[in-house]
This record gives sequence, structure tokens and C-alpha cells, in this order.
Amino acid sequence: MFRPRVLIVKDPSSVAVAGADVVEELITERPDAVLALPTGRTPIDLYRELVRRTRLGRIDWSRVRAFNLDEWVGVPADSEASYASFMNEHLYAHVNMPATHRFIPNGLAPDLDGECRQYEDAIESVGGIELAILGIGRNGHIGFNEPGTPFEVRTHVATVSADTRAANAYSFPGGDPPSSAITVGIATIMLARRIVLLATGDEKALILRRALEGAVDVSVPASVLQRHSNVTIIADERAGSLLPRPVSER
Ligand code: PGA
Repeated sequence: MFRPRVLIVKDPSSVAVAGADVVEELITERPDAVLALPTGRTPIDLYRELVRRTRLGRIDWSRVRAFNLDEWVGVPADSEASYASFMNEHLYAHVNMPATHRFIPNGLAPDLDGECRQYEDAIESVGGIELAILGIGRNGHIGFNEPGTPFEVRTHVATVSADTRAANAYSFPGGDPPSSAITVGIATIMLARRIVLLATGDEKALILRRALEGAVDVSVPASVLQRHSNVTIIADERAGSLLPRPVSER
């Protein structure tokens, strides 16, 4: 078992800065890096910070490839509620990553299982994911891998839990998100060479502690990260409030 590195910083904007440092350093060192990227409220500040640095000429996305972690099933890419729209709004419209380098599962594919296989093939064909950036759901999910999902699964169609649907209701006009989504699997995430998980706010404090300090178990999907050798958790003080403090701070 490994111990994820835990970086606790002051507030959500410091989380964004620390996350952007990781991305900027990677792209500077490896201009053709392959990323896996999250959606949700947490990474919005990260994308804003990355866009700011891009405008300053610090990040060149022309050779970067990025795979989204997930997309809703049945939501057209051009609908406001899709994760494709989210990524355009927060990142892709503002950076020079070629459209052919941006991968998002097609939640309207007639053959969803075939779409999942193609997504895995696309990840493999570019040599796998160098850096996966994750959020964490209040129930411990990563991507849409909800509690109970076997750790061995690759990209698949997942059933979205009631809790997660409630947490995402804000982005659907009728407040009613779909009950399924395509998500990269836990095994896909674990093959990334490096993982950074971002967490902010009180509502993530308990689950972050369970994920990092509790047993590795499918009931808390993020607990699998204890089995990966290169994980960094970047949390603000609120999300990190229930984690054991480093010896130097006791
Ligand atoms: P959030 O979602 O950033 O909106 O809290 C995180 C997640 O569900 O992964």
C-alpha cells in the first residue's frame, strides 16, 4: 500500500493554483502530454487559472491530448448540460488544444458499449494517460464510478446514484440529470502514471478522510488510490480538516 501525498492549502483558489502548477510543469516538460480531465464545480477554478496562464503565454496546448473522465448518456454534446459544453466553456474555447486532441465520450452513441471500447482504444493508442486529474463525489466516487463499482472495470456505462444526481441537479434545467453516464473505469484511472485529486469545502472532509485513512474497499471508490504509487491530494483547509495533520503541525 502507498501513502498519497497530501497537500493542504488555504482555500479553493489556492487549490486551483497548486493544481495548475502541476499541469503547467507537466506540459512544459512534456508538450505532448496526455491528460484525463474532470468536470464538476471543483475544477472550475483550476481551468480559470490554466486559461489565465495560457493567455500569459505560459502553456502551449497544441500537442496536448485530453480525455474527459465522463459524459452523461442521452445528453447532446451541444446542450448546455453536457460535459462537452462544460469543457468548452471552461477550458477548450480559451486554449489552443486542437479539436482532434479533445476526447469526450459520446453519450448519444447508438452503441454505447462500442463507444466505451473505442474510448479505451483511443487512450491506449496515444500511450495511456500521463496525468489524471480527479474530483471526488460526496459518496467517494471518482469519475462516475459509484460505490460498489469493481476496481477492475474500464470505460463503461454507469448508473448514476440518487445522491450524485441530486448533487448535479443544478446543471440541468429541470433539475433532473440522467440516471446513466459513460465513465472511464477505475482500472483506466489506475493506469494513469500520475493522479491528482482536488477537493474543496466541508462537504468533502468526511469522505476524503474515509478514502485516505479508511480501508480500501469498493464502498468508497476513491480508496483505491491508496494502491497507486503516484497520487497527490490537493485539498483546501475545509476539505482537509478531518485528515491527520503532519507531525510538524501537531
Ligand atoms: P463537484 O463534483 O466538484 O461538483 O463537487 C465532484 C465529483 O463529483 O467528482
